[in-house]
Amino acid sequence: MMVQKEYFDTYRGTDIFKYTLQGDITVSVLTLGARVYSIIVPDKNGRPVDVALNYTNAEDIVQKSSYMGATVGRFGNRIGNSCFTLNGKTYHLPHAEGKAHLHGGFCGFDKKVFDAEIDGDGVRMHYVSADGEEGYPGTLDFSVKFTVVGSTLEIEYSAESDADTVFNPTNHSYFNLNGQDDGSILDNVMQINADYYLPTDRMQIPTGEIKSVEHTPLDFRTPKAIGRDIDADDADLKIGSGYDHNYCLNDRHAATAYSEKTGIVMECFTDRPGVQFYSGNFIAAQTGKSLYGRRAGFCLETQLYPDCVNKPDFASPVLRQGEKFYSKTAYRFSLKKPLA
Ligand code: BGC
Repeated sequence: MMVQKEYFDTYRGTDIFKYTLQGDITVSVLTLGARVYSIIVPDKNGRPVDVALNYTNAEDIVQKSSYMGATVGRFGNRIGNSCFTLNGKTYHLPHAEGKAHLHGGFCGFDKKVFDAEIDGDGVRMHYVSADGEEGYPGTLDFSVKFTVVGSTLEIEYSAESDADTVFNPTNHSYFNLNGQDDGSILDNVMQINADYYLPTDRMQIPTGEIKSVEHTPLDFRTPKAIGRDIDADDADLKIGSGYDHNYCLNDRHAATAYSEKTGIVMECFTDRPGVQFYSGNFIAAQTGKSLYGRRAGFCLETQLYPDCVNKPDFASPVLRQGEKFYSKTAYRFSLKKPLA
């Protein structure tokens, strides 16, 4: 196992580095937003295929946003009314007018420059989020470690706060198992191990209902092409302009995706109870490593349920003072075995 460090770009006077982890797959991560930059997987013909979308310089990464590959914090997905109450105190969070607080605010972890150090077979990225940053209480000492083990990318989150707070990090990689330059994920096949999902209101805040996927276009219990039902006449799908929903996971083996073109299979494992399956409905037509656009990549964002901070029935995101937060998600790559 080899870890290589190289200069990537300079962002507002700070050098950004790229760390490359080489195993049976090759994964590069940037210190800007502790962000997965590329994931190179050999396809069924042994050809290297980059299955992760991204932009090629720091300014584009920050401006074009979409959170490509980023570590999202302090809070993945949306918080209803952009506020929550903890220990009797109400916290108001930054948000765009008419919209809910999303992915930790205007300047969340995705736009921060992390310190990095090689740690065993991986790279650990570290960032201290000040008390009050983006409206959240407590100084949060956070690190995320990326490791390649064989053909698996492991992502481990650790954090500790000096005051009670709420915390719900995730990774926002966009995948296309045909290759990041293919342009569409509609023929990628998806299977999600979830019997239930969370319908949302127009602001994409869960209504609180935990709904069965049965007889809905959101049912991915049996593998199907992402594009098969994506434009079905369904109220929940219309709100997100496609898939953009939290699935309530049946077990740690969250999902399996597959490309017929490359034979590449990706499985997602997590200790989180939910995964946001987002079919890239709002990716702007912009050039990164190649030309991207609507539905050019999909995300599997492992997380606590969105707005859990305001929903006592959902698993709680409260992180008590001095408590150690730890969570792990892994993306395992393989090739589809030919049918016997
Ligand atoms: C959300 C989408 C949002 C996107 C932004 C996803 O995690 O679920 O609603 O538009 O992030 O890139």
